[in-house]
Order: sequence, then C-alpha cells, then structure tokens
Amino acid sequence: MIVAPSLLSADFLHLDRDVEMVNRSRAGYFHLDVMDGVFVPNISFGFPVIKAVASKAEKPLDVHLMIVHPENYISQCRDAGAAIMNVHQEACLHLDRTIHAIRDAGMLPAVTLNPSTPVEMLRDVIADVHMVLLMSVNPGFGGQKFIPNTLAKVARLRALIEETGSQALIEVDGGVNIDTAPALAAAGVDIVVAGSAVFGAPDPEDMISRLTDI
Ligand code: DX5
Ligand code: ZN
Repeated sequence: MIVAPSLLSADFLHLDRDVEMVNRSRAGYFHLDVMDGVFVPNISFGFPVIKAVASKAEKPLDVHLMIVHPENYISQCRDAGAAIMNVHQEACLHLDRTIHAIRDAGMLPAVTLNPSTPVEMLRDVIADVHMVLLMSVNPGFGGQKFIPNTLAKVARLRALIEETGSQALIEVDGGVNIDTAPALAAAGVDIVVAGSAVFGAPDPEDMISRLTDI
C-alpha cells in the first residue's frame, strides 16, 4: 500500500528534519491534518505551517480539513501547496459544488467520511472524486485505536466504486499500524495514513518501508 505519514505526530520543533525523512522515504504523500476546534474537539495547525512544509516537500500534500465550511478555504488551501484537498462529507452542505470548486482551483478533490457516515452518502458524487478517505477512528486526535468495522466499510466502498464506474482511490486514516495494516491491504485499500505508528517508531523511515510492503 501507499503510505501517507501524518505530520500531526511529527516533532514540531524539528519539522524540517521530519519532512526530509518523509522525502527520503518510500512514502507517497504528506498527510496534513487541519483541525478547527469546532468540527472536531481539537486544534492543530493551519495554512502557514502547510506552506512551510510545502516549501521543502518533494511529494504531494494530502490536506485533510477537519473544519466547518471547508468551501471557504479552497484558494488558501491551493496557495498553501495542497495537491489533494480532503473535505468531510459531514461538513459540506453542498458537497457537489465544493468538489467541483476544488477541481476548478487546480487540486484533486477528496471526500472524508466519519466512522458513523455510510458510504452510500457518496453515491451521487463519487464519479467526480479523486479519493475517498474513510476515518477508522473518530477524527480529532492521533494515537487512537482502529475501529474494526472499517474493514466491512472498505468492502462496501469498493462495491460502490465498481457499481458507479468511479476511479476513486480508497484511503484509510486512524489507528493504522503494522498489526492493523495487513487486513486493510487484503480489503483493497490503496493508501493508508499513519501518524503515531510512523513517528513513534524507533526508525520512522523503516516503518514507512514496512507498511509500504504490506
Ligand atoms: C485524526 C487524523 C489522523 C491522525 C492519525 O483525526 O485525521 O490523520 O494523525 O493518527 P494515528 O495514525 O496515530 O491514528
Ligand atoms: Zn487525517
């Protein structure tokens, strides 16, 4: 699987060192978690930090917006250097409009679902979506336990993608580690986000490599 290390678990005092490690590694993307303290009960970082990461990153930035009204930040997200703009279905009243606005701004649109949101909510937009991100924890914090129901949900998403002829990639975020990744690979997940499993490992670059090989 392709690994997208989440910088939420990086060392913010030495972000340059961690960005260089991801550049050197076999990771496919940088995953950046923006939290507003409203959509989720936590606050992380915003566009200035993303911009700083983008100035050194040699891989595309997958920006996961856990914020209300993400449609108000499309140009800021693009200007900060995002390649993929990931918005929550639960945060978008006019999801179809937002998906097209993201593409018109020159980014790849991705939609994230909370654990309680059924994949069926995406039936009418999935043909226009580059990637679907299934949360395998309730969003807001790193280091939580993987929710096993995600595996059945991946199967339902794969069926929806095939039924609709969509090209959407499947990404999973939360509680991914060396123990939970094999079942995700077997279920057909394309990309896994990993925060604490990567940055908490004695050798983060090696952990990215091990997860990539699963
Ligand atoms: C959680 C974030 C995740 C988080 C994952 O709300 O969306 O990207 O960084 O952290 P781990 O891999 O530690 O569960
Ligand atoms: Zn995330």
